Amino acid sequence: MSFTKTGLVGHPVSHSKSPMIHGHWIKHYGLSGSYELVDLSCEGLADGIRTLKASGFKGFNVTVPHKVDVMALCDHVDDLARIVGAVNTVTIKDGALHGTNTDVFGFIENLKSHAPDFDFKAGPAVVLGAGGAARAVVQGLLQEGVPEIWLSNRTPEKADALIASASLKDRIKRLGWNSAEGIKALSQANLVVNTTSLGMTGKPALTLSLEGLSPKALVHDIVYAPLMTPLLLEAQAQGNRTVTGIGMLLHQARPGFALWHGVMPEVTDELTKMVGG
Ligand SMILES: NC(=O)c1ccc[n+]([C@@H]2O[C@H](COP(=O)([O-])OP(=O)(O)OC[C@H]3O[C@@H](n4cnc5c(N)ncnc54)[C@H](OP(=O)(O)O)[C@@H]3O)[C@@H](O)[C@H]2O)c1
Repeated sequence: MSFTKTGLVGHPVSHSKSPMIHGHWIKHYGLSGSYELVDLSCEGLADGIRTLKASGFKGFNVTVPHKVDVMALCDHVDDLARIVGAVNTVTIKDGALHGTNTDVFGFIENLKSHAPDFDFKAGPAVVLGAGGAARAVVQGLLQEGVPEIWLSNRTPEKADALIASASLKDRIKRLGWNSAEGIKALSQANLVVNTTSLGMTGKPALTLSLEGLSPKALVHDIVYAPLMTPLLLEAQAQGNRTVTGIGMLLHQARPGFALWHGVMPEVTDELTKMVGG
């Protein structure tokens, strides 16, 4: 069995849970390989990737702040990554870099595994944030047939830019941040997703009153540190169903692992617990 070298490129990368996830799967499936952390500055990205290629890497994941810049260094970028505007998974084949995006898959699989009966088509989704993760979330929701997406971001221009580049833009409407129309939207929402970094350890909490939230709405926070964010705790206290973000991290790792090792790995309870879920 040949040894498969893989890893994560980003800055910083030292706190990543990805080596634990990939290491667990390599052992579990009896494979031979490694998953290394590769800390590269923006200036060092191109040279660093050349070194990975020369040292026989089969592929690598890409995280903040390189998900956009790495696209220009890839020989092929697939349609999904182009629509999302970011590459988080690269496979090196015959010396060529093939980029894709697995955050869409990770987001949707996590939702489906935690709420198998959730009907994406049953009503509108409120999406908070318009950063890199929001692009993947919006694309996933469009693919699943969500009839309308109401997008709200602190910086409205970023929300407009996301809508302009989306595949089905007529299904997305921008709402003001902390606005009356935003509060009204919550009363009609089938799903609420926080994609901002608010609520993350070390960041301010998301100040959003869920008072008028539809009791049927599912609330999903993609922030996973802490696991139960203030938003999820408030939603739970109101009796709404919630989904945490840790499963998105686990599921987004699966397609990359499959591309590099030829095995589609499973997300088990054991693995979820191992990463803090
Ligand atoms: N579960 C997972 O697998 C997963 C995957 C990807 C990301 N994430 C998490 O998702 C979060 C966002 O990641 P990202 O890559 O999209 O980051 P990003 O591109 O930097 O976007 C950050 C978003 O947060 C908003 N924001 C930041 N500070 C704010 C504040 N003080 N008030 C209001 N809005 C604020 C930004 O609004 P502006 O546009 O106004 O700046 C933007 O919409 C992070 O916490 C990340 O850990 C989780």
